[in-house]
Amino acid sequence: MSREGLWLGSKIFKDESKLQPDYIPKSLPHREEQLKLLREYFRHFLANPGSIFVRVILVGDVGTGKTAVARKFGESIDGLRTRGGATIKYSYVNCHANRSFFSILQKMGRDLGLNVPRRGYSSEELLYMIWSHLKNSEKYMVVTIDEADYVATGRDNALYNLTRLSEVAGDTVHRISLMFVFRDLKTLMLEPSIQSTLQHNVVRFYPYTSEQLADILWRRVLEEGALHESAVSDEVIEMIAELVGYDKGGRGDARLALELLYRAGKYAESEDRASILPEDVRRAYSDIMPFPREVLQNLKLEEKLLLLALARLLQRKKFVSEVPMGLLEMEYYEVCEEYGVPPKRHTTVWEYVQNLKRMGVVTAKKSGRGQRGKTTLIGLPAIPLQALERELLSMIRDDLRRSRQP
Ligand SMILES: Nc1ncnc2c1ncn2[C@@H]1O[C@H](COP(=O)(O)OP(=O)(O)OP(=O)(O)O)[C@@H](O)[C@H]1O
Ligand SMILES: [Mg+2]
Repeated sequence: MSREGLWLGSKIFKDESKLQPDYIPKSLPHREEQLKLLREYFRHFLANPGSIFVRVILVGDVGTGKTAVARKFGESIDGLRTRGGATIKYSYVNCHANRSFFSILQKMGRDLGLNVPRRGYSSEELLYMIWSHLKNSEKYMVVTIDEADYVATGRDNALYNLTRLSEVAGDTVHRISLMFVFRDLKTLMLEPSIQSTLQHNVVRFYPYTSEQLADILWRRVLEEGALHESAVSDEVIEMIAELVGYDKGGRGDARLALELLYRAGKYAESEDRASILPEDVRRAYSDIMPFPREVLQNLKLEEKLLLLALARLLQRKKFVSEVPMGLLEMEYYEVCEEYGVPPKRHTTVWEYVQNLKRMGVVTAKKSGRGQRGKTTLIGLPAIPLQALERELLSMIRDDLRRSRQP
């Protein structure tokens, strides 16, 4: 077999595991404030464990880094020895997987290395077992109660019990402090008693902007070595960052951004290429968020022709994600000629672009560095081009047939 035949490594990925959702990177850019706040809230507990019962809540939308920050903080304190000779233990509980007070306690017990009974015990007995262990071994615990939304309304009052854990355990020494993670506090409508205990220490997580996402993605490539640097381009990272960035109308969700990079990489890999192209990003994005066909169907004939021109142009220029307006117009004139449709003037074409932008079909922005003069760059990031072209061709044919019928 040739040397090449023996090569089993990927031309795209250096270490795929570093793009998996549960992977915690070395650094969490743009979350320094949140980590700092956590350290402040827990400072006194960590210096004088037992003296206070800390309850912090972490709140924010999907993929804004709540779990990553909580785990990062947990890692940094796990095993810590205090001056008084006590040890801090960190435990992570996900309420999606552990939906009762009992199973939350089970997970905490397992993280302490206890031989936790599966059944035949009550929650109180289990808590007593954990508490005694902490006491006898001079340990204190910090626990993340992640995705606490799932137990906010449970019948067994899991959340209520957790918020007053020391009381339930019947001790004045606060052996355990907690971090609760919520996605949405407003629609949860927590009981007033829970709310008032929790509202003091809040760490908020805001959706990421496109600039922040580009930073996060580049660090996964350069700092973490998830992908070969040469497999990724500014063009591709920008495209993902702008599709997901909150400031660009996206969700601001870092998990989605990382998944897009991963899927795009998989498409490139499946075609045995050594680099990711804009089209890979389009395919990845439409796998997750398919573009509504009706939106295309309801476009004016001229808008469809313009879109066809853009799709063709971007397929030829496959390394870039955007083309200058002037070039698009030239292509549009050609398409109009092909179909025997009189082309619209510049100002009207410009209105079409604005309309397509409003509907989320195209992007349009002023050119920045590296372009001669100022021009507008038009992109089409959310729909795979080949499929779009096919779709448009048949729609245009139908439109023309209908308009030419007597
Ligand atoms: N600031 C960041 N830097 C690097 N990676 C990040 C950052 N924020 C989030 N991530 C990554 O994005 C993904 C989603 O983050 P995380 O799981 O922490 O979100 P979350 O807020 O807990 O979302 P959910 O509400 O859906 O549970 C993870 O893979 C995480 O590693
Ligand atoms: Mg999470």
